[in-house]
Amino acid sequence: MYRAPRGTTDILPEEQTYWRYVEAKAVELCQLYGYRRLDTPVFEEAALFTRSIGEGTDIVTKEMYILKDRSGKALALRPEGTAPVCRAYIEHGMANLPQPVKLYYLAAIFRYERPQAGRYRQHYQFGCEAIGDADPALDAEVIQMPYQLLVSLGLSEVTVQLNSIGCKACRPDYIKALKHHYAPRLTDICPDCKIRLEKNPLRLLDCKQQECQHIADEAPRTTDYLCQGCQEHFEAVTRYLKSLSLPFNLNHRLVRGLDYYTRTVFEIQPLVGGAQSALGGGGRYDDLIEQLGASPAPAVGFAIGIDRVVLNLKKYKLPVPPIASPGVFIACLGEEAKTEAVKLAASLRAQRIGVIMASGNRSLKAQLRQADSLGSRYTIIIGEEEMKSGRLTLRNMLSGEQQSLTATELRAALEKSA
Ligand code: HAM
Repeated sequence: MYRAPRGTTDILPEEQTYWRYVEAKAVELCQLYGYRRLDTPVFEEAALFTRSIGEGTDIVTKEMYILKDRSGKALALRPEGTAPVCRAYIEHGMANLPQPVKLYYLAAIFRYERPQAGRYRQHYQFGCEAIGDADPALDAEVIQMPYQLLVSLGLSEVTVQLNSIGCKACRPDYIKALKHHYAPRLTDICPDCKIRLEKNPLRLLDCKQQECQHIADEAPRTTDYLCQGCQEHFEAVTRYLKSLSLPFNLNHRLVRGLDYYTRTVFEIQPLVGGAQSALGGGGRYDDLIEQLGASPAPAVGFAIGIDRVVLNLKKYKLPVPPIASPGVFIACLGEEAKTEAVKLAASLRAQRIGVIMASGNRSLKAQLRQADSLGSRYTIIIGEEEMKSGRLTLRNMLSGEQQSLTATELRAALEKSA
C-alpha cells in the first residue's frame, strides 16, 4: 500500500473548513493592508536559496530538497517564500513601481526535517513582503499583521518576541564581542556551538542545549552594539508597536534560522510550547535584493505556518464556519425518471442552486438515507407517479413534510429557501 511520504499529510475534505477559513482571513487581512498576491513556482534554482538563506544554515545544509532536471540544473523545492518573492521583484522590474511593493503568498514549503507534531516536510505558509522602503513603520506593520490575524482567529494566547540584530556596519563589532565571550568557555559548550562559533556565531544565541543556556543568556546583547541608524530604527519600531498597544517582549537571544536578516527580527510564539512551535516570524532583510544582484532595496516581511495555526484552532476548539454543501438532493426511480433528473439538476445548477444527484439504482429508502447523510435540506423525488402526473415531490428532510409541485413552483420554493 502506498502512503503519503513521511512528514506530509493529506488535507481531507472535513479538514478543509480550517484551511479555507485561515486562508480567507489571510486574504481579507491583505486587502485591509494593501498587499497583492504573488504566486511563484514550487521550485527555483537551488543557488537562489543557498545565496539568500545562507550556506551555513540548517535549511541549506540539511533540509533542502534538491533535484536535478534532465539538463543537469540543480533545482530546489522552495524551503521558504522570501527569496522567490525577491527574485520575482527583480525579474519583473518591480523597482520601477512606486515603493514599497507589497506582496503576499500562500504557498507549500518543503524542508527535510525530522517530522513531529507541527513540524512537517511539506508545510504551508502565508507570508507578506514589503520591498523598497526602510521605514520602521513597515516593520511595525508586518508584526501587527500576523498578530492581528491570530487574534482575529481567536488565538490571542501568544507572545511577540522582538530583537534587533543590527546591520553590516555594526554587526562585526558585536560578533567580535560575542566570540570574546565564548572564547574562554570553549570546553563548556556543545559540539554544534563549537562549529557555530567558527561558521555562524550569531546562531550561538539560539542553541537549545542545556549546557549552553547560561553562556548564551549571559552573552553580550546585539542591542547594546547597534550603530546610531539601527538604534534609531529599533526605537521607532518599538514606539510604533507601543502606540498600537501591541504587546511584545525584547528577547536578546532571538536571531532566527535564516541569514538574510538585518535590524528587526521577530517571532510569534504560543504561550505554551515556545520557540519550537513558533506560529510565525520574520524581520527586515535590507541587503538581500542587492545580494541577489540588483540595486539595493530595503525590505521587511513575515510568514506564518498555516499547519500550526490549524493545529491551534483545533487544540483550543475554536469555531470555524462550515463550507456550504449543496442543499438539494434529487432521488429518482427508473431510467425515464433519471433522464428527467439529469435535466432538472442541470437547470437548477444553471439557476445557481447546488444539487447532488443520486447515482446508481438504489431504492428510494437508500437514496433518502444518502440525502440525509449529506446533510441535504431538501430532496426532490422523481418516481413513476411523478412521471405520470408531470409534478415533482419536494421533501423537507428535517420535518419529513412532502409537497407535490409543478417544476415552476418547485423552482420558486427552492429559490425562496436559498
Ligand atoms: P520561518 O520562521 O522559517 O521563516 O518560517 C515561518 C513559519 O513557518 C514558522 O514560524 C512556522 O510556523 C512555519 N514552519 C516552519 N517550518 C515548518 C515545518 N517544518 N512544519 C510546519 N511549519 C513550519 C521563514 O520562512 C521566512 N521566509 C519568513 C519571512 C518572511 N521573513 C521575512 N519575510
